[in-house]
Amino acid sequence: MTDTAPERRRLAIQLVQSGALVTSTWQAAVEAVPRELFLNPGVFQPEGTLWRPVTATGSDPVEWIRTAYSLDTLTTQLDGHLTADQVGEPVAGLPTSSSTMPALVVGMLESLDVEDGHQVLEIGTGTGYSGALLCQRLGEDNVTTVEVDPDVAARADAALETAGYSTWTVNGDGLLGHPRRAPYDRIIATCLVRRIPYTWVRQTKPGGIILATVGSWANGSGLAKVTVNEDGTAEGRIIGRASFMQARSQATAPVSGDLSARAAYADSERQAKVSPLMLDEWTPAFLTQLAVPGAQLVRATTNKGEELLYLFDPERESFAEFMVDGPDWRVRQGGPICLWDRVEDALIAWDAAGSPDITAVRLRVTQTSHRYWIEGGDSTVAWEHRLD
Ligand SMILES: C[S@@+](CC[C@H](N)C(=O)[O-])C[C@H]1O[C@@H](n2cnc3c(N)ncnc32)[C@H](O)[C@@H]1O
Repeated sequence: MTDTAPERRRLAIQLVQSGALVTSTWQAAVEAVPRELFLNPGVFQPEGTLWRPVTATGSDPVEWIRTAYSLDTLTTQLDGHLTADQVGEPVAGLPTSSSTMPALVVGMLESLDVEDGHQVLEIGTGTGYSGALLCQRLGEDNVTTVEVDPDVAARADAALETAGYSTWTVNGDGLLGHPRRAPYDRIIATCLVRRIPYTWVRQTKPGGIILATVGSWANGSGLAKVTVNEDGTAEGRIIGRASFMQARSQATAPVSGDLSARAAYADSERQAKVSPLMLDEWTPAFLTQLAVPGAQLVRATTNKGEELLYLFDPERESFAEFMVDGPDWRVRQGGPICLWDRVEDALIAWDAAGSPDITAVRLRVTQTSHRYWIEGGDSTVAWEHRLD
């Protein structure tokens, strides 16, 4: 077996230089954990619209190690079942499990503010690499990691054992946490959740921290860091941008089919006050999800090459359709929710607050609601998502 200590040291240096790796304890963990052990049987590298398999046994050993220590996210499973050893040629597919880019993994671990002896629950084991870093830092008995996919969980468990960490790898739905080993000092999720499940708050000690990416859009989700209070609420803020695959039990089916039929019956049409192209920016995209959770931005092209742009909320049978009108936009809206009215209110309030970065968004989680607002913004502008 190749000794990858030099690659691990180089990775740690790159992560320090990028600003993701800050503390010496996490640096020691990065230098100790061989990432390649967690990528078996192989990874898929993007090649055009396809995925090219690179495996530990079938590929050039130099390419294998170089890939393992790249700074990229490495896809390890497609379509919920396919692994790189099962294909000989590039294939199409949708990534369903991966080893997250090291800068994001390490950046999140740094943000977790762990201390010696802390009990940590990780949601989304994936390859087990981030779990291994936690074990190296805190000791294997202090780490519990939950993975929804049985095959992925089994591979991660085997890799953790090979690397010398006999930790608690649980196969199950991480949205339920893992009550058997609660309470935890820290909960960290490496999959995207629409909201922080209240069961995570229940399973965290008062003063403990939950770190999870909230949202449902790939480009426009926010890394939330909340501290659990004595009274069972949790409060905090969005500390940055992060992009993860959606938690499987919450994954939204993309809007497809006859888009013009979905937008056939409009209740209103007017000039848009805000350009829908703003939703290409990360913070406006995040605020849109706060204003109209469940809505999806859909772009399409007609046979004649005409660009179409919509916001659809299939659950609430509501839509907004955007049409270029000279230098401006017109919007047709239909259904019980005037989606674009709500988004415009959010973006106008954001603009009035000085268009701050996503880190100005604060949140408070209770058993029945998530409340979001912009720090320094109009205190009457807030988005409350209620469960009751
Ligand atoms: C981005 S990968 C995790 C990366 C991993 N922490 C690492 O660094 O190797 C996300 C993982 O979350 C898992 N996942 C998705 N939904 C889940 C859920 N509801 N509970 C637990 N795991 C889930 C996926 O199967 C996938 O393996």
